[in-house]
Amino acid sequence: MAKVKTIGILTSGGDAPGMNAAIRAVVRKAISNGVTVKGIKKGYQGLLNEEIIDMNARSVSDTIQRGGTILGTARCMEFMTEEGQKKGVEVCRKYGIEGMVVIGGDGSYRGAQALSRHGINTIGLPGTIDLDIACTDYTIGFDTAVNTAMEAIDKVRDTSSSHERCSIIEVMGRNAGYIALWCGVANGAEDILLPETYDYNEQAIINNIIKNRKRGKTHHLIINAEGIGHSTSMARRIEAATGIETRATILGYMQRGGSPTCKDRYYASIMGAYAADILCAGSTNRVVAYKGGKFVDFDIEEALEMQKSIPDYEYQVSKCLAI
Ligand code: ADP
Ligand code: F6P
Repeated sequence: MAKVKTIGILTSGGDAPGMNAAIRAVVRKAISNGVTVKGIKKGYQGLLNEEIIDMNARSVSDTIQRGGTILGTARCMEFMTEEGQKKGVEVCRKYGIEGMVVIGGDGSYRGAQALSRHGINTIGLPGTIDLDIACTDYTIGFDTAVNTAMEAIDKVRDTSSSHERCSIIEVMGRNAGYIALWCGVANGAEDILLPETYDYNEQAIINNIIKNRKRGKTHHLIINAEGIGHSTSMARRIEAATGIETRATILGYMQRGGSPTCKDRYYASIMGAYAADILCAGSTNRVVAYKGGKFVDFDIEEALEMQKSIPDYEYQVSKCLAI
């Protein structure tokens, strides 16, 4: 017998491929547990605006393979205030919503924490392409985003080699370098610039380009993380210093869209079902994570206090694989 009769689900912050698989799993697992589900459109903003729809098993048909989020998403300043949060709780009560699943990143978890504090049982799911949630080794959307970026970078590499150019490719990840590191290794980049480690020593990059040209390399790929940015001006300076034609490519939002990979569909499905199960069992203020090879859950407070950093060995390895 479920501890809640009706739950809501929303997606918040940046969208990520696999969010639909998670929504589908939450809806169908909750229904299997005898619980009614309401979808909240456009994140916390939609909650405050009462953009609430009834969901059934058919509402999520034909969605597992789609990128984006069928519920829409938003960033909502009002929900960061005490008044906004109280209003959100009143809306939940008005619609009989006793529990909520929030799919998003750390910011969205803080909103989830607020709902929980005010008596709405809330569970977070890690939805972000950035992989920058400390409590989990996996976030919904990262796998699709790195595969999309990797394929795009392979294409840039082809033309870069043909023209014997240097290419700077800027990938997403706000202030986190995980997309840059993974693509840097997977695409065989000569330099990987991460916000967590970059020392702004451009001369070292220039020296590396010249050294690699002498080694007989026809291209030079630099993966630059969005948190460092300024790829176009960096390209101009590198070209002037090396005499080697240098082009910048900013991959941008293409990394956030597209059909999710098998991994994103699978993990999002299991995590969505897990969230529905613990919510129906009466849990609150928890986030679902994948840690040490297992699906687990943590207290939100504890999860938000955890720290995550770029694994040093992996970063060091990346440097010597492109010689
Ligand atoms: P992400 O969830 O990907 O980290 P944001 O940081 O943009 O993305 O947060 C998404 C939304 O979560 C915000 O627009 C806001 O509505 C809500 N949020 C963020 N921080 C808080 C907070 N401290 N308290 C309540 N809600 C918050
Ligand atoms: O957090 C996901 C992300 O795509 C980051 O990589 C990026 O910095 C940010 O969202 C962009 O946000 P917005 O959609 O508001 O431009």
